[in-house]
Formats: sequence, C-alpha cells, structure tokens
Amino acid sequence: MILLSVSSSPIAAVFSVALLLIYLSEATLGAPCPINGLPIVRNISELPQDNYGRSGLSHMTVAGSVLHGMKEVEIWLQTFAPGSGTPIHRHSCEEVFVVLKGSGTLYLAETHGSFPGKPIEFPVFANSTIHIPINDAHQVKNTGHEDLQVLVIISRPPIKVFTYDDWFMPHTAARLKFPYYWDEQCLQESQKDEL
Ligand SMILES: *[C@@H]1O[C@H](CO)[C@@H](O)[C@H](O)[C@H]1NC(C)=O
Ligand SMILES: *[C@@H]1O[C@H](CO)[C@@H](O)[C@H](O)[C@H]1NC(C)=O
Repeated sequence: MILLSVSSSPIAAVFSVALLLIYLSEATLGAPCPINGLPIVRNISELPQDNYGRSGLSHMTVAGSVLHGMKEVEIWLQTFAPGSGTPIHRHSCEEVFVVLKGSGTLYLAETHGSFPGKPIEFPVFANSTIHIPINDAHQVKNTGHEDLQVLVIISRPPIKVFTYDDWFMPHTAARLKFPYYWDEQCLQESQKDEL
C-alpha cells in the first residue's frame, strides 16, 4: 500500500497538474468561444457586438457555426452606419437579408463572365428582404441617412468569402477571406475540438 502510493504519487501529481492546465486553458481560451451549443432563449441586447476593425459596422453572431456549433445555417445581426457597407464579395452559400431599419442599396453583378462587371442597383428599405443568388458578386451599402440594420441568414457555415477590390477584378483574382472576421478568433479552437 505504502509502496504503491509512494510510487504512484509522482505520476498522480503530474497527471493532476496536466488536468489542471487543460482545465485552465479551456476556461480562459474557451470564454470568447462558447462552443457549447445555444441556450434556448437569449436576450440579443446582451450579446457581444464588435466591428472587427471595420469602421461603421456593428456585427453580432446571433447563432453561429464556429461560435455555437450550428450545422446548416448561421444568423447575424448587423448595423451599418451611413456610408459604410460590406466589401464587394461572393460566396457559394445561400444568403437572405431582412432589413429591419434604415435604407440602403444592394449592388448585384448578375453577369457570369470572367469578372463581376457593372452591378445592378436595388434600393433596399426597412421591411424589405433580399436574396443573394449563390456565387453572384454583391455589396450592401448604407446609402441612407440613418443606421441600416439587417438580419442575415446564410447556409453552409462557416462562411468562405471571396472579396474584390472593384467590379472589374477577375473572379480568379478575388481573395479568399477565411476564416471571416468574426470567425477568426474561434475557428482554430473549434477545429481543434473536432479532432
Ligand atoms: C434584455 O437586455 C436588455 C439590456 O440588458 C434589458 O434592458 C432588457 O430588460 C432585457 N430584456 C428582458 C426581457 O430581460
Ligand atoms: C414593417 O412591417 C410591420 C408589419 O407589417 C409594420 O408594423 C411596420 O410598420 C413596418 N415597418 C416599416 C418601416 O414599414
């Protein structure tokens, strides 16, 4: 008994320290990336928002893949100050916007040549809903005078975005931004968890 406890205690000690370290790293690193599913009801007034270094933007992941383990859809609540908007971009997922407040313009390039080309302009307004066809380059901009607030639903999260400097940049030159701004912090962790 004594022999056993004497010989096993260094191993037990190392094991407990390792467990403690794992626990501490999960507790600290895990805090901004709560991949523990989603509570049934949440108050969105209390969810964190950030601009991710983009001026005029306020983004909140209401229900996310990387953040909350959603498999099929992801939902964002975004506010764009007057003059701000999304980059020109495309993605191979479905996307639907519901405009909650304000007004703006959707620019959509429906041409299927080697570059997006001059976009069609669609005015968008509170209570309008926007559907973006898969892979069409587009940009949503607040061209109004008050905040533009949109609820955004995408399929196949996490989103993989190709961005363009302008409407005449070849599709092949568009830059992949992955993980996207709000997935950057947590993506590595969620992938680690899946391994
Ligand atoms: C939701 O959160 C906001 C901000 O903290 C608070 O003012 C409001 O009372 C909350 N709503 C409910 C129903 O708890
Ligand atoms: C949006 O629709 C709802 C429901 O029909 C209505 O109560 C609200 O006034 C509308 N808002 C705007 C800005 O049109």
